[in-house]
Amino acid sequence: MRTRYNAAITALGGYVPENVLTNHDLEKMVDTNDEWIVARTGIKERRIVNDAHIATSDLAVKAVERLLSDAKLSPEAIECVIVATSTPDYIMVSTASVVCEKAGLVNAWGVDSNAACSGFLYALTLGASLIEGGRYKNVIVIGADKNSAIINYEDRNTCILFGDGAGAVLLEQTTEHTGVIDNVFRTDGSGKEQLIVKAGGSMNPSSIETVTNKLNYITQNGRVVFKAAIEGMTQTCNEVFERNDLKSSDVNWLVPHQANLRIIQAVGEKLDISTDHVKVNIDRYGNTTAATIPLCLWDYKNDFKEGDKMILTAFGAGFSWGATYLIWSKLRG
Ligand code: UT7
Repeated sequence: MRTRYNAAITALGGYVPENVLTNHDLEKMVDTNDEWIVARTGIKERRIVNDAHIATSDLAVKAVERLLSDAKLSPEAIECVIVATSTPDYIMVSTASVVCEKAGLVNAWGVDSNAACSGFLYALTLGASLIEGGRYKNVIVIGADKNSAIINYEDRNTCILFGDGAGAVLLEQTTEHTGVIDNVFRTDGSGKEQLIVKAGGSMNPSSIETVTNKLNYITQNGRVVFKAAIEGMTQTCNEVFERNDLKSSDVNWLVPHQANLRIIQAVGEKLDISTDHVKVNIDRYGNTTAATIPLCLWDYKNDFKEGDKMILTAFGAGFSWGATYLIWSKLRG
């Protein structure tokens, strides 16, 4: 009988820029205030790159270097790198190519996957599939976004929400029942206008007009996205519960995409998972798009024990959303 392989997360790395942008800093830039931002989003501060020469790949490389150092692995051991990002270094040339070069991953091929805030979960399943198929033993999956590159710091609807950061996980082949177990994902392009960067791609190439009209920045219809996020995450989590015969009391940790504390709390309540089992770091980093979930896993890795049952869930532009069932594995190092 063919051996069944699973993809275990055995090492992690995270990175956020040192430069802090607080709510009080934003008060000086747009018509907003700390009380409103904390009450409506849970965000107190976020990290923003303050050097024009630092790109998404640089954030990702820092996360990969921390991962490799913790794992006591040499860069040559890595076979494949998947970078989830919607702020690639370039339109053409994958950020994964740049990451492989800068981090010395000389034996790896790399590819980007863009599904905005759901990007990391989708990339995790793609990476896990390579390993489950038996041909790969070591795959790094990264979620990285330099959101400050696509934020209009004159738009209070969006500039208060987003931060920059990167998180990376190492997936390793195992025959044990651990690691990435299952997922339920959805996409619905009819939601695309609700959260979008309209220009810069083939639909609307960048021009003087797109820049003048601020079409190269994120725009969002917050209320519509808010409602759809709660519904979508709750529904896919419930489907994952059913498919895997899980009850909410079986779940040790819910690790949700960090877009808004009120969304996180609503999803936790609907799933009947108490707040002490829900991981939150939005107060410190804001919404780092594809990086929120791996950053959260990295931040709280000391709280997780081998065998812990975890549900990761995200919702983002596209619309794209879903939930992943993960069993926490023994970490290297
Ligand atoms: O990661 C991808 C997925 N993204 C999300 O999940 C984000 C989903 N949406 C949200 O998190 C929320 O909708 C926001 C945080 C973006 C906005 O919160 P809200 O509670 O939905 O506020 P709202 O847009 O309904 O605005 C309420 C009021 C408005 O004033 P009026 O019309 O009631 O007078 C806004 O103009 O708050 C005003 N407002 C602000 N006030 C101070 C909007 N932005 C701000 C601001 N500071 N930054």
